[in-house]
Amino acid sequence: MADSTIEHKGKVRCVTRSRASSQENEPFVCHSLDDADRDLRPYPSFTTFTLIISVILSISALFMLGLWMESSDLHVDQTWEIRRVSTDSPILHDLDLELRTVQFNGSFLHANIFRQPAGPDVDAAWESLGINYRPVVIPESQGRTAELNEGQVRLSEAYGGGYVANVEGLHHLHCLNLLRQALYFNVDYYRKQGQGAFVNDEFILHTHITHCLDTLRQQLMCVVDVGLLGQIWWDKEKPKAFPDFNTKHKCRDFEAVRKWAEEHQVPEKTARTYLRPPRREDVLDSIP
Ligand SMILES: *[C@@H]1O[C@H](CO)[C@@H](O)[C@H](O)[C@H]1NC(C)=O
Repeated sequence: MADSTIEHKGKVRCVTRSRASSQENEPFVCHSLDDADRDLRPYPSFTTFTLIISVILSISALFMLGLWMESSDLHVDQTWEIRRVSTDSPILHDLDLELRTVQFNGSFLHANIFRQPAGPDVDAAWESLGINYRPVVIPESQGRTAELNEGQVRLSEAYGGGYVANVEGLHHLHCLNLLRQALYFNVDYYRKQGQGAFVNDEFILHTHITHCLDTLRQQLMCVVDVGLLGQIWWDKEKPKAFPDFNTKHKCRDFEAVRKWAEEHQVPEKTARTYLRPPRREDVLDSIP
């Protein structure tokens, strides 16, 4: 069999094959335009046309969807996981907080900087977590959804109003740091320094420490971690089981939150008129 091509109506190159048996050139695949062989038509067939249009429309639709998501909250709203398990906070609106997997360093024997004996280095490490930041100001509009209420401390109108508040997570770390300082093997050092919580008399210090302890108890119970600690074997001679504290966790971005709190602190020095004077009925008889 031999193949040859011919021009068909000046547009389509058609293939004909000569059949040895008939010795005649017989159109084999080149038919008249009315024929069923659609692939060889000069214009795309109906289905091809539909397909191309569909693809173009789909791409446009995806593009429009992308633009819409860009302009709406959808593309950034990775915070939904955290929103479900958190009191509302401007931090959830300001930051793209999403959960990330973090490998804990659960070393039993090897102490990192946060576990060092009392001294300037370990203090600096804890300080760098933002545990002693000044409060932040929360705009009035955001305060109400964040469970702050009008009876609480606010800035005066002259300073733009808004609530004075601390980020809970940093307070928790402040508390943990106080427990560290109060540990029997650290407390003498910090008593001698007489700074922070140690400026107060024994009764207040004691009260402060137990307040911190109980706050952390409630927080840990609130977010009770249902992850598991497996066990490892150690000691080649006489293998013994020991908990494996090097576990994976779903964590919030602490560093982003710390940075937010750092940037939103009230000024270091504020005027006497900085706070709006309280209404009489908003002032309590004693510290709750
Ligand atoms: C955990 O931290 C300690 C102290 O910094 C270090 O010696 C150890 O190698 C770390 N362990 C892992 C598994 O990263």
